[in-house]
Amino acid sequence: MKSLSPDATRDDKAGIKNKILLFCDSISMLQGKKILIGITGSIAAYKSIFLIRLLVKEGAEVKVVMTPSARDFVTSLTLSTISKNPVLTELFDEQSWANHVMLGRWADIMLIAPLSCNTLAKMAHGLCDNLLLAVYLSATCPVVVAPAMDEDMWNHPSTKENFRKIESFGNKIIPVEKGELASGLHGEGRMAEPEKILQFLVENFFSIRSLKGKKAFVSAGPTYEPIDPVRFIGNYSSGKMGVAIAKELYNRGAEVTLISGPASIDSINGLHLVKVNTAEEMYNACTRTFKNVDIGVMAAAVADYTPVRKEKDKIKKTGKELLLELKQTQDILKSLGEQKKKKQVLVGFALETSNEKKNALEKLKKKNADLIVLNSLNDTEAGFGKDTNKITIFERGGKEFQFDTKSKQEVAKDIVNTIIQLFYA
Ligand code: CTP
Repeated sequence: MKSLSPDATRDDKAGIKNKILLFCDSISMLQGKKILIGITGSIAAYKSIFLIRLLVKEGAEVKVVMTPSARDFVTSLTLSTISKNPVLTELFDEQSWANHVMLGRWADIMLIAPLSCNTLAKMAHGLCDNLLLAVYLSATCPVVVAPAMDEDMWNHPSTKENFRKIESFGNKIIPVEKGELASGLHGEGRMAEPEKILQFLVENFFSIRSLKGKKAFVSAGPTYEPIDPVRFIGNYSSGKMGVAIAKELYNRGAEVTLISGPASIDSINGLHLVKVNTAEEMYNACTRTFKNVDIGVMAAAVADYTPVRKEKDKIKKTGKELLLELKQTQDILKSLGEQKKKKQVLVGFALETSNEKKNALEKLKKKNADLIVLNSLNDTEAGFGKDTNKITIFERGGKEFQFDTKSKQEVAKDIVNTIIQLFYA
């Protein structure tokens, strides 16, 4: 994310940019977290390299302990280069003794990935014949394991029993995946992908539920303005962006109402869903809901015009031109901006095809919003029906936050992070 104030000088801009980059980095849930990775002898050890890279990229401090047999699969050199820390394997060498107690106390979390059948059995029975096991037995932090084994080993009763045991010790198990195994067979037992492991850690240990106790509403999708019983004026909005924002607000602890136009949105676990069709119905639902919430996000593509009359019967062809008389709909965002109370946060969108920044800033002011999220139809990866979006967020103080092209889920995270940092941090 980059931020520039409109009239900053070049040096100011560099300073602000650095500050905002720092501010953004600190948004990562893993920033500064100390993660101790244990690697055991399994072909899946190669995935640990990607996992460590991901964790380091997210701002975590990573140290690695490996069993002697893990060295047959990955090298200490690779792991120490990626983790930026020495890799430990032995309890002691000629000169020093590895302080396993301190390592276990240093970590916020110990993650054993991959966990082999052999190490699992030793963990379940308190064996301690290598450094990794000594650290495990003396760890005071939560321990998470990502198993990797062939399907038959995975299904063996002794393995099941050992997992039950370590679970009863309070250790958490990241489910294995189905797929091609090292044996060439296809089945259950693959270690979870690094992204899944990261997600597990964040959801179970590092999730910031900064919006706990807050209420929010998000509008999404198009509106349909009826012409007659079989025709309407509508637009191509899929509602995906609004849904992603609603889910993200919910994930951060807010109680969320999703007000959806006629897009194919089914009920979503945890969200209150209100379905509407026309701009007028959306206006009524949004104004009613906004009174009782802390945050309102107008992501819907509300029709600006609606037919003056809805014909009772289907309009028949006459062989002549047909003129439809349209009247302007209520501007919902503007109306919410007028009612907005001091502590409420109002976010609008601007979908533009030209003079993007100027139009977005005008909307911010005219509609009394706190933030305007701009997406331009000139970006090929942004807009209606796409799975990706590229946004710039403008705030009232004149700051501007630019983001790269991302999936709509990731964009939703950026929007919610910005709301939290600007209004609730
Ligand atoms: N919006 C609204 N009510 C309307 C039209 C738009 O609340 N009747 C909201 C949208 O949900 C969005 C913001 O206003 O958050 C900007 O929408 P956009 O279509 O970009 O702009 P308009 O206000 O409709 O202006 P114009 O069509 O002239 O660009």
